[in-house]
Amino acid sequence: MILLTPGPLTTARETREAMLSDWGSRDTAFIDLTAALRRRLLALAHGENTHACVPIQGSGTYVIEAAIGSLVGATDKLLILENGVYGARAAAIAQRLGRKVTSLRWPEATPVDPEAVRAALKANADITHVLLVHCETTTGILNPLQAVADAVAAEDRALLVDAMSSFGALPIDLRATPIAALLASSNKCLEGPPGIGFAIVARAALESAGPAASLSLDLKAQWQGFEKNGQWRFTPPVQVVAGTVKALELLEAEGGPSARLARYRNNFASLLAGMKRLGFAPYLDEAIQSPIIATFRTPPAWHLTFDQFYDALAARGYLIYPGKLTGADTFRIGCIGAISSGDFEKLLAAMDDILRRPA
Ligand SMILES: Cc1ncc(COP(=O)(O)O)c(C=O)c1O
Repeated sequence: MILLTPGPLTTARETREAMLSDWGSRDTAFIDLTAALRRRLLALAHGENTHACVPIQGSGTYVIEAAIGSLVGATDKLLILENGVYGARAAAIAQRLGRKVTSLRWPEATPVDPEAVRAALKANADITHVLLVHCETTTGILNPLQAVADAVAAEDRALLVDAMSSFGALPIDLRATPIAALLASSNKCLEGPPGIGFAIVARAALESAGPAASLSLDLKAQWQGFEKNGQWRFTPPVQVVAGTVKALELLEAEGGPSARLARYRNNFASLLAGMKRLGFAPYLDEAIQSPIIATFRTPPAWHLTFDQFYDALAARGYLIYPGKLTGADTFRIGCIGAISSGDFEKLLAAMDDILRRPA
């Protein structure tokens, strides 16, 4: 199966093979593997001098919940910049945790406006933290990370970035971009297996963090555990750690995030050209579209339902993704994973074949 989804996604055989062993969670071999995971992730973000990498068991949402519950204190206030479902989910998490939260909202096809963020911070001295979703996977829209980070830093607030579907491919450099906590997971642009979320957090923010809202999703305690003896506080997903370390080695062998981004751009270009040929219109303006995942409008006069189209493609070995938009009938195709433009040419041929069949 080729997974054209935003994760879990198609992984390399070497990554899957790296998970064929057992590891004792307190054994030196696994402690070394964990150290390699944390070191490599930190280095990818260029955070060695300022930040610490804190992996946590679970999916991306778990680390978002851990970061909000650990870094936004009971007397703090979080501003969420929302233009899709993942921003909305972060707001729901903050509410559930009893943290003070407010949102600035944009339509799903409009990027976050850094000037509006600056104005909101100037007008609301009680806001202490801001959360931005770098690539909103709802549509694939790319939000202006550097400009938002500069605006937040100029107003002396802390920025949390959900970089779930951008980290490992789109450039993120903590030496140049002021970010208190960068949040991502093992199974998107890193092309690892699912099961680990991680936060790359400014050490000063970890040191000054008060009590977390959750016992298990406590980034400071998790970090202190790693610093004390190199071990995870609770049962670690040992195979996922091994698979992710292998995926990180493969990322390095490919030439790092810039080489990976170039491959994803190629994938996206093949997909977009072919979809237009087949009569599908992209939902987003190309100027604000990331090469991570693309949203297409369902053609108005279509003889298929999405489920029929999905099943026909699945029968040919391709898994696509339903739309997540509230106001438009769409579906999505991911460009990330251990896949290249040749896979997209085959996908497009399969689509062409399906579309030519009578209703
Ligand atoms: C931008 C973004 N944030 C958060 C998440 C949540 O991650 P998970 O589904 O792994 O919990 C996703 C998942 O696709 C995402 O794309």
